[in-house]
Amino acid sequence: MDVYEAVTSRRAVRGFTDEPVSREVLERVLSAAAWSPSGSNLQPWNSYVLTGAPLAELKTRAVERVSHGDHWDEREYEMYPRELKSPYGERRSAFGKERYSALGIAREDWEARQRAAIANWNCFGAPAALFCYIDRDLGRPQWADVGMYLQTVMLLLRDEGLHSCTQMAWSQVRETVAEFLSPPDGLILFCGMSIGHEDPKVSYTRTGRAPLNETVTFVDG
Ligand SMILES: Cc1cc2nc3c(=O)[nH]c(=O)nc-3n(C[C@H](O)[C@H](O)[C@H](O)COP(=O)(O)O)c2cc1C
Repeated sequence: MDVYEAVTSRRAVRGFTDEPVSREVLERVLSAAAWSPSGSNLQPWNSYVLTGAPLAELKTRAVERVSHGDHWDEREYEMYPRELKSPYGERRSAFGKERYSALGIAREDWEARQRAAIANWNCFGAPAALFCYIDRDLGRPQWADVGMYLQTVMLLLRDEGLHSCTQMAWSQVRETVAEFLSPPDGLILFCGMSIGHEDPKVSYTRTGRAPLNETVTFVDG
């Protein structure tokens, strides 16, 4: 698969089959992704990969927790600023509309939206999940490094015929995740990533993107 195809065919897939993903493939992808760049080569990513019974149990515990309306764990980082100024607020609303209309959910149908959100903690049915942590003492440039690493993982997964969905939602139940992974003190859970084969029966709307001139400025000579 060429790089353009990997980039354009990657999307947040929210419906997976239960076909397993082999340890061999995951190791190949994560070994190659380790070549991602990072400032001064700090390699600030710490990944944990769960499959099989431990993942099944984590999903059950997380879904139960969320379904009972438990409070989220205390936040270790803010997912978004409280006030999303323009154009970010508009982009977020457009995304919400696209997502819920693909699911046939009305904007005011809070219960259906909640049910759709709960699928996050079932990894949308995926048989493998990666949890990515970063050291609490590191700063914004290192968080950017982790983002590059995660994108590299997602593109390599495409080359293996696999799909993924990155999920900050997992940070909301980070203590439940920690019970399974026992990460060392000092690590913050940035996100989870569901990994698997796409279920073609699950409908979706391809998310749009801002026109190039909204996000790129060329200064030509
Ligand atoms: C850091 C990060 C966290 C995300 N968290 C979630 C999440 O918790 N749940 C979810 O369904 N999608 C999540 N997404 C997927 C985004 O909604 C998605 O990437 C975005 O809408 C663009 O759509 P696309 O990836 O399909 O092109 C996340 C993406 C990123 C990069």
